[in-house]
Amino acid sequence: MRLTKQRILFMLILLGGLLFIAACSSDNPDTSDVDNESSEKDDEEVENPEEGSSEEPVTLPEEVLHKSNTGDMVTALQHILIEIGYPIEVTGTYDEETTWAITDFQLQHEALNATGIYESETKSEIEQILEGGNQVESGENLSKPANNQAEEKSELGNPYDVLALINKVNLLPADYYPEDLTVPNVRFSFDGDDPKKQLRKVAADALEELFAAADEAGLELFALSGFRSYDRQDAIFAANAQKHGEEHANTFSARPGESEHQSGLAMDVTSPAVNYDLVIEFGETAEGKWLAENASKFGFIIRFLEGKEDITQYQYEPWHIRYVGVEVAKEVMDQGITLEEYFANKE
Ligand code: DAL
Ligand code: ZN
Repeated sequence: MRLTKQRILFMLILLGGLLFIAACSSDNPDTSDVDNESSEKDDEEVENPEEGSSEEPVTLPEEVLHKSNTGDMVTALQHILIEIGYPIEVTGTYDEETTWAITDFQLQHEALNATGIYESETKSEIEQILEGGNQVESGENLSKPANNQAEEKSELGNPYDVLALINKVNLLPADYYPEDLTVPNVRFSFDGDDPKKQLRKVAADALEELFAAADEAGLELFALSGFRSYDRQDAIFAANAQKHGEEHANTFSARPGESEHQSGLAMDVTSPAVNYDLVIEFGETAEGKWLAENASKFGFIIRFLEGKEDITQYQYEPWHIRYVGVEVAKEVMDQGITLEEYFANKE
């Protein structure tokens, strides 16, 4: 083959082109270094979905997670909820949407307890969905909550939520009736069957542990009143209003829909020292003091604190305990705050 001038020129141009391309690609590491320097570490982790999905698939958290938790574990859970069909936002906070998705998922699986809390049983069911490459029909059992923070009375979108804030502005629906009510095996101040002996399973189990610990401490706690239906609360409030006037009655008795007793997560407890009554003096008894000190270890809070009446909108009730789970209960009781303040602080 003869090397004509044109051929030599063509080959030189080709060689030059190749050298140029090689030089450009060796510049790339510098460019990406600049990118890395300018991006936050957190941004990289969150905003690099390609890297995350091909090399480090998001795995389901091992920890129990619940409303108001934050962090990478919550982010991972949110990614997976989206993967199985829940249209939620990845916020890194176990918010109302995440609580909704978990509750709706639990309601779709009979073996699960609908609490809104992500725990090992829920994890296993989600794993099965993932393994089958399946998706769920989101919102089949519970509508997605609207995103409005009402200042006026409004109905809770998720009454199953064990961390639901129930008060004079956040109401339980009239037809909400917990499905997992059970009678805890504790001492009651009265005999015989009565719906008010019941609590939701998770709270009933915790109350049994609380009573066992109180027994060991040599105390005489008695359970008096747990679950009340909407209609029962309606009748109780009407009777109190007739006797004391509506306004005064509402300082110690909730209107229907506004009582934690309808949630099956609250129990009124008392002791012989106050003649099995529900009176403020209970707070000064050995049982009342022990309760305030120890209730949180079992996941309960004293819901209506002394000095916080302007926040709770109810008088001090040292006898009314509400189940919220150990983690939240400890934070609330250690800080001496109300559930309203707990959630406001998390916003
Ligand atoms: N005593 C509380 C406020 C209730 O009626 O639920
Ligand atoms: Zn009560």
